Amino acid sequence: MSRSNKLHSVAAIFDNPDKVIFAAEKVRDEGYKKFDVNTPYPIHGMDEAMGLGSSKIGFVTLFFGLFGGAFILLFMWWSLALSYPLFIGGKPFFSLPAFFPITFETAVLFACVSTFIALITVFFKLPFNNHPLHDTDYMKQVSVDKYGIYILLEDEKFDKDKIIELFNSLGASSTELIYQPKEEKYSMFQPKYLIFLVFLAVGTSASTYLMLNKLMYINPFNWMEFQEKLNPQESSLFFADRRSMRTPVNGTVARGFIPYPYKGIANPKEVLSNPTLPTTSFLKLGKKKYLTFCSPCHGNFGEGDSRLNGQFPNGPTFHSDKVRNFKDGMIYHIITNGQNSMSAYDRQISREERWAIVDYIRVLQRAKNAKNSDLEEIKKEPSTND
Ligand code: HEC
Repeated sequence: MSRSNKLHSVAAIFDNPDKVIFAAEKVRDEGYKKFDVNTPYPIHGMDEAMGLGSSKIGFVTLFFGLFGGAFILLFMWWSLALSYPLFIGGKPFFSLPAFFPITFETAVLFACVSTFIALITVFFKLPFNNHPLHDTDYMKQVSVDKYGIYILLEDEKFDKDKIIELFNSLGASSTELIYQPKEEKYSMFQPKYLIFLVFLAVGTSASTYLMLNKLMYINPFNWMEFQEKLNPQESSLFFADRRSMRTPVNGTVARGFIPYPYKGIANPKEVLSNPTLPTTSFLKLGKKKYLTFCSPCHGNFGEGDSRLNGQFPNGPTFHSDKVRNFKDGMIYHIITNGQNSMSAYDRQISREERWAIVDYIRVLQRAKNAKNSDLEEIKKEPSTND
């Protein structure tokens, strides 16, 4: 690095950390403000000796953390409640508890990334890459095993000779005058760097390709990977129509699958008959499933008082003559198949649970229209009434 004759600072080297701490204290006490210390590793107590306040980087982190959290909350509100509201099982469109994880993560992300960018640009002043201390004897020594301190020309009390005298009286092993470099910046894009980058790109791509596409596929044996069989959708010369997949024999039923004969029929003439016994525990199951799956639209007691505040058409009451006269199998059919705007619940609710819900709806209907004879029955057998 070629130097101008403009002074930048006066620097001194010390042989051990105690001396440099002591020197920093004295320099501060003498009233110098623009000085800095360089050591090969962090030294405890140095901040105090130099009289440094705490770093301002925390404010950057706090500001961008809060900003990130607020931004993503607003974004979720805009996208999920305003721009494209989706109705999912009666849940509110804007629900704070559900948005906590994303808010937290985004706040952390913004805080970290902004802290990093602020550090290297604002605090370390990149891309400024020509600090006058670079390439000096001073810097070479303090990067290895010596401890250094330098006072800048800008300091109000700067006086070259007095500073050298001060450093010597503090036990400096050597002092150095640091001059400003002639050039303001090094070019970041010298041919040697560019060539290095090209090598790096080609090298990493090639080795990644070899690792993932070649090395990983070296097989100790291949009789499991390549088997004598036909894969779905593959063509085959074995059958005349050249398809490997055959249509199952009529009446074939997949294992564990029980077909529902009225699927897709809006108003079936026949329906299944109820195969269950309404025992207390079975009705309890029905109540639980009813409250989970049906009550949001049809109300806790089947009165059609939806909790959805108009986000979905209200489910009708179950206490109409129409539903009271439905066969059990018809209610089962509506749960299994859906009806108009009500969708099918056969994927969410098992067959047994569907019958349990049907039985529970019968309980609700009967409770709404209790007759005196019902009450007498309860008197007769109070123990089962729980
Ligand atoms: C998302 C809201 C919603 C849910 C959840 C829901 N339903 Fe419905 N249900 C409706 C609506 C709306 C209708 C009216 C459909 C129509 O126009 O035929 C309806 C109709 C019905 C009917 C026919 C009533 C009639 O008078 O024709 C029955 C029976 C029924 N639902 C039972 C259930 C059962 C049992 C469950 C729980 C497994 C359930 N529903 C869950 C919204 C819902």
